[in-house]
Amino acid sequence: MSDEIGFPTGDLMKGKRGLIMGVANKNSIAWRIAEQLHAQGAELAFTYVNESMERRVRPLAESVGAEIIMPCDVTSDDSMDSVFNAVAEKWSEMDFLVHSIAFTDKVALEGSFVENTTRENFKMTMDISTFSFVDAANRAAKLMPNGGSMITLTYLGSERTIPNYNVMGVAKAALEASMRYIARDLGPKGIRVNAISAGPIKTLAAAGISSGRHMFSFNRKASPMRDDTDPKGVAGAALYLLSGLGASCTGETHHVDGGFHIVGMPDESAVID
Ligand SMILES: NC(=O)c1ccc[n+]([C@@H]2O[C@H](COP(=O)([O-])OP(=O)(O)OC[C@H]3O[C@@H](n4cnc5c(N)ncnc54)[C@H](O)[C@@H]3O)[C@@H](O)[C@H]2O)c1
Repeated sequence: MSDEIGFPTGDLMKGKRGLIMGVANKNSIAWRIAEQLHAQGAELAFTYVNESMERRVRPLAESVGAEIIMPCDVTSDDSMDSVFNAVAEKWSEMDFLVHSIAFTDKVALEGSFVENTTRENFKMTMDISTFSFVDAANRAAKLMPNGGSMITLTYLGSERTIPNYNVMGVAKAALEASMRYIARDLGPKGIRVNAISAGPIKTLAAAGISSGRHMFSFNRKASPMRDDTDPKGVAGAALYLLSGLGASCTGETHHVDGGFHIVGMPDESAVID
């Protein structure tokens, strides 16, 4: 069974409550995941980064019946306190967390990594894109006395060099390592922690990467599936990892990229002279 937007419906997430951090608009990966979780019966809470994002996020969140829709800048302890206090007050417990947040200065997303990485932007990128998951996971775990599941979003630029991805690749490598340590700490509490490594998807964040068009077309030509990454596949992977279907799966970085990550040398047709 499918609903009108193509997400399989059912009750895999019925009775489960979770927080979605990282919706900016309807193209956000976090929103695609939220739609899929909603189609399977989940109750959702949302955060948005600032007032200008609220205009887009609030109507989306309301369309899936969310009652907790709050601002949250992950660099602010007060902001994080407010959100998790609100969740604790309203729900007392939660079952899952979706962390889909990253940020760096646009100038760092082009040219030379070694020359364009400043101390200030390195720290900010790591704070927003990496530490925020550690912080959110720690807070969420305290609201999961009966176990739960958490995911974060990453990209292949953590494992291999990708033109212009630069400091964000370093932050994603640290995010994946953090995910494994969090999984180790929270496993005994019945909490599973995983990452989804998505191929390029057209979103606000992706638009900030210089030579993004090349990234999309090369991924399409060189990947075994010869196609763009389908956000529905990312949402499906999230459903698997966040529901009972993913039992016993933890500490994993799961690639949803048309198989691009397995290619050592692409076919000749993928190389543009
Ligand atoms: N789009 C892609 O091709 C792609 C591929 C792989 C992984 N990812 C990852 O997916 C995640 C979501 O990105 P997206 O592509 O959906 O883009 P997006 O722009 O829709 O989402 C990024 C989110 O990060 C939020 N954010 C930035 N700074 C913040 C802060 N200080 N506090 C709170 N929130 C903040 C933004 O408001 C936005 O909602 C990111 O971690 C990104 O690196 C994206």
